[in-house]
Amino acid sequence: MTIDLRSDTVTRPTAAMRAAMADAEVGDDVYGEDPTVRALEQEVADRFGRDAAMLTPSGIMATQTLLATLCPRGAEVVCESDAHVVAYEAGAGAVVAGVQFRTVDGDAGRLDVDRVRDALRPTSFPYTSLGALSVEETTNRGGGAVHGIEVLRHLRAVADERGVPLHGDGARLFNAIVAGGGTEHAYGEVFTAFSFCLSKGLGAPVGSIVVGDAEVVAEARTWRRRLGGGMRQAGILAAAGRHALAYHVERLADDHDHARHLAVRVAEAVPGSVDPAAVATNMVYVDTGAHPAEAVVAAAGREGILVGAMGPHLLRLVTHLDVDRAGVERAAEVLIAALTTPRSA
Ligand SMILES: Cc1ncc(COP(=O)(O)O)c(C=O)c1O
Repeated sequence: MTIDLRSDTVTRPTAAMRAAMADAEVGDDVYGEDPTVRALEQEVADRFGRDAAMLTPSGIMATQTLLATLCPRGAEVVCESDAHVVAYEAGAGAVVAGVQFRTVDGDAGRLDVDRVRDALRPTSFPYTSLGALSVEETTNRGGGAVHGIEVLRHLRAVADERGVPLHGDGARLFNAIVAGGGTEHAYGEVFTAFSFCLSKGLGAPVGSIVVGDAEVVAEARTWRRRLGGGMRQAGILAAAGRHALAYHVERLADDHDHARHLAVRVAEAVPGSVDPAAVATNMVYVDTGAHPAEAVVAAAGREGILVGAMGPHLLRLVTHLDVDRAGVERAAEVLIAALTTPRSA
């Protein structure tokens, strides 16, 4: 059996989720007539204590509709150097939202308040104007690290001082919540507007959700339309999302536990390869040392363990709904063998 640790996006809907999808009441959501989408959006807005929410087909579309809504064209968005919006979105910030990024080196993908302050340009002409601060919670390339609500409050204060929004790319926000970063209401309050993904650790097949004030979400809806992201009988997807929010949030703690266990096992067997203390949620980054990461990926793949190379000597392993304790044990065994066997070098 293959154990796929490349990402938490690889999960397949459970039988119960599929049943909820099959039973979903639907309508044309472009007309605003899909009752299941409406119920999901209302439920999410209520959970975070905000006015409104909007379903999008992907996390990138959620982020781009928000940046386009929140920032004047040509403005600068301050974010961490390795942020998803910089590393993986095919230049959408420039092409779609019309913003440029001012990147700041952080710690495990987390923005540091003082470094952000230092990076802010004067407000006078002819400096490029600031459009927003953007934070990832949890960090992806930063290894699933959590800023936590206190740091975010400081960042929000900086944003407020400059009169710009604090945007949250919360693709894995529920991992941060379950890891103790803050409550749903606290996160709902600290971000001017944010999104999270249903299709990552929560295990839904498709979908992300934008959350914010009524006017922001209304404008984001126009952007979704503009980008061709309006979906018709999307209640089938919203039903998966509602199911995920009802049944797959608390269990994220199991994924975190599995990730920590995996990190400890590998760190004990291959000293220096992993820092278990850095594992805050469901990601484990492994330094392959003298072994090229691609060779370890190939060796593990031959044993049915799929992992991702994130750099020449860096692997990422992500735990999720479709990986249990036995799977994690097996992955640790195979990885340790690949990292300690000269053949895989
Ligand atoms: C932090 C972060 N933001 C945004 C996205 C984009 O989500 P999607 O692949 O649904 O567009 C991802 C995907 O992995 C992510 O990790």
